Amino acid sequence: MRVLGIESSCDETAVAVYDEARGLLSHRLHSQVAMHQAYGGVVPELASRDHVRRLLPLVREALAEARSDRTSIDGIAYTAGPGLIGALLVGEGFAAALGKAWDKPALGIHHLEGHLLAPLLEPKPPAFPFLALLVSGGHTQLVDVAALGRYRIIGETLDDAAGEAFDKTAKLLGLPYPGGAALASLAESGRSGEFIFPRPMLDRPGLDFSFSGLKTAALVALRGRELNDSVRADVARGFEEAVVETLAEKCRRALTQTGHQRLVVAGGVGANRRLRERLAAVARGLNAELYFPRTEFCTDNGAMIALAGCMRLAAGMRAGFGINARANWELGAIGD
Ligand code: KG4
Ligand code: ZN
Repeated sequence: MRVLGIESSCDETAVAVYDEARGLLSHRLHSQVAMHQAYGGVVPELASRDHVRRLLPLVREALAEARSDRTSIDGIAYTAGPGLIGALLVGEGFAAALGKAWDKPALGIHHLEGHLLAPLLEPKPPAFPFLALLVSGGHTQLVDVAALGRYRIIGETLDDAAGEAFDKTAKLLGLPYPGGAALASLAESGRSGEFIFPRPMLDRPGLDFSFSGLKTAALVALRGRELNDSVRADVARGFEEAVVETLAEKCRRALTQTGHQRLVVAGGVGANRRLRERLAAVARGLNAELYFPRTEFCTDNGAMIALAGCMRLAAGMRAGFGINARANWELGAIGD
């Protein structure tokens, strides 16, 4: 079983070929970050148009590197949602057309299923079942993963996603979009304890998150101060510690509550070094194992979509055939 995967839900065009027996054969990615930077965020129409431009050359490159052609590909997996609807439709239209031309199934994949399966691309993959912390620019969820396609959301953000909070706070600190990684590197030189921000929702039971108050706390902390490099670094450090501490404590509670022995962290914020260190400590304390994808597969990529498609096709799952693109899509409702 060999699958071509296509990701185009937001501002990355990404393509990969995954083989059930041999693993990942190739992956290619074009980031639109430079194009959107002038606007301080993703411009949906520009994103769609750029996906149209990039997709075909990337598919050609990925197929060539994987030494694959239409005869060796068994299916085409693409991100069907959630995401920017125009961007999703470009990927879906492309995949559906290629599927028709090649007489191969085109399979719509849930973007977050892709993220939470991404650690399975690594040499030491987690076995099912596991607890997943999904932390991306658009989502923050704790997912009880029983098996492929069987996902139960046990906690999620009530407002901003963790990545969104990173990006908005980064903007306050004068960092270019998307600011998550830049804020994290600024925080490296910041001093711990100079700014102490609230740990939202830790004072009450439950597994939900709320991050919108944190950027306001950062704004209030900065008000009336001279924004020199050391203040900016200290605020970045305080903000990062508040987010990481909150995520880690909720993971500890969720592991205890579910009894899972494996914790998977995925999505763009999963690339954060301090978060990984804290989660490793939480897992150690509970005799659990921590799994995460390599940094480039934390953020959006085609490999996770190719892998999810390959696993679904190999398991004989039929959900996702037909035209599927949707901007909003509950992970708990994807079926098999
Ligand atoms: O998963 P992803 O690539 O896209 C979505 O599906 O949303 O996640 C992107 C998010 C952005 O908010 C970005 O700022 C954040 O992940 N991010 C980070 C780091 N690297 C990326 N946040 C904190 N620390 C990082 N090192
Ligand atoms: Zn994503």
